[in-house]
Amino acid sequence: MNAQAPKGTADMLPDVARAWEHLQRVAQELFARYGYEPVYTPLFEHTEVFTRGIGEATDIVSKEMYTFEDKAGRSITLRPEGTASVVRSALEHNLTANGAQAKLYYAGPMFRYERPQKGRMRQFWQIGIEVLGAAEPTADAEVIAVLWRYFEALGIPAENMRLLLNSMGDESCRPAYRDSIAAYIRDHAVGLCEECNRRADTNPLRAFDCKNPACREVMGEAPLLRDELCGACATHYAEVKAHLDALGIPYVEDPSLVRGLDYYTRTVFEIQVDAGLGSQNAIGGGGRYDRLMEAYGGPATPGLGFALGFERTLLAMQAAGVEVPAPPRAEVFVARVDDAVTAEVFALAQRLRDAGIAAELDHQGRSLKSQFKQADRLGARFVLVVGPDELTDGQVTMRDMSTKEEKRVALGSAPAEVAAALG
Ligand code: HAM
Repeated sequence: MNAQAPKGTADMLPDVARAWEHLQRVAQELFARYGYEPVYTPLFEHTEVFTRGIGEATDIVSKEMYTFEDKAGRSITLRPEGTASVVRSALEHNLTANGAQAKLYYAGPMFRYERPQKGRMRQFWQIGIEVLGAAEPTADAEVIAVLWRYFEALGIPAENMRLLLNSMGDESCRPAYRDSIAAYIRDHAVGLCEECNRRADTNPLRAFDCKNPACREVMGEAPLLRDELCGACATHYAEVKAHLDALGIPYVEDPSLVRGLDYYTRTVFEIQVDAGLGSQNAIGGGGRYDRLMEAYGGPATPGLGFALGFERTLLAMQAAGVEVPAPPRAEVFVARVDDAVTAEVFALAQRLRDAGIAAELDHQGRSLKSQFKQADRLGARFVLVVGPDELTDGQVTMRDMSTKEEKRVALGSAPAEVAAALG
């Protein structure tokens, strides 16, 4: 057997898993202040949820999905992102019936068959929020503020972050613009790569996202949607910016920001960090998707949200020198002098744990000396030494690992003594 995780996946060993839990804790605390509630949707859905939601012509749907037939012949796909699932779930459970608003957050693994590189995995982890039923520009500014404040709360300095903002328009202004970009691509066919030429028929706006320098130059001269927004979209966009200005959240307007999912309408945004990341420098992004629930056959329901990538966020934190808090694995270590006292050691460790103290003991038959070494490695502040002599007096020795001071304490009150010493 090949004891190796599949390409593009990674085991989250304790250091990284602890960071993931830290990110979730900070998210829970911050998102709750804005009224978001947790939601868990399945890791796989009927394929249609994603083909209809994200769009057939996107890279995600056309190239990157893990799709398979289940034993009953249904087409099933591992979720490549969370938004489509949350909207499917809100529709199924009527979360926005009668004009109700739903504010939800989620955290978990997503799957995309991409070419792995730094910050780009096939199984990666996202934290996201979605607001359903809110059309007002204050909702856009709030969602962006949550993302910005979240990264700040993690310790990523504001000066490391670049918030890009754009409006994608809506069904009244985007179709004409889309056609004009398709025409522009055809007019500039020779200067554009094959893929961009194909995009004229499938997904012309994605040509703005091409990494090819020649294409970037040609697309840099293309007409901008910003200049062709309808009145309602222009007003909405202006108000989002005014609310962000009022919050003091700095943004850069990027009229070529189109994002890789077709469900977006109006506001789109992305936060990029250069320090610590290579070309995959978007640590989080999102936008509005006012037509998505209708695409699933539901009622017209505005919606918006963001998702951030755990792996890239961690790289940005590491580059900023942010340490993830790591509690000691043991506050106290219960050491035994010899095997005769094993039962007492085991029982004492349990009493300490029951008293809410992180306690560890040796399960490997180590010498007293190496038990002390292990206590040190685990970061224990105290060692309780249990030996036959002390036990005859109903006592154990309590050693302070930093001052090296020792004292005898009664076996029965050892947990209380340790709790008091730990403060
Ligand atoms: P997205 O931009 O595709 O948006 O992904 C959001 C974030 O997930 C990215 O900024 C990045 O940090 C991370 N990410 C994406 N793909 C990978 C990958 N292959 N490896 C590692 N990290 C990755 C969405 O997923 C939308 N659902 C966001 C949204 C929510 N829009 C509205 N609501």
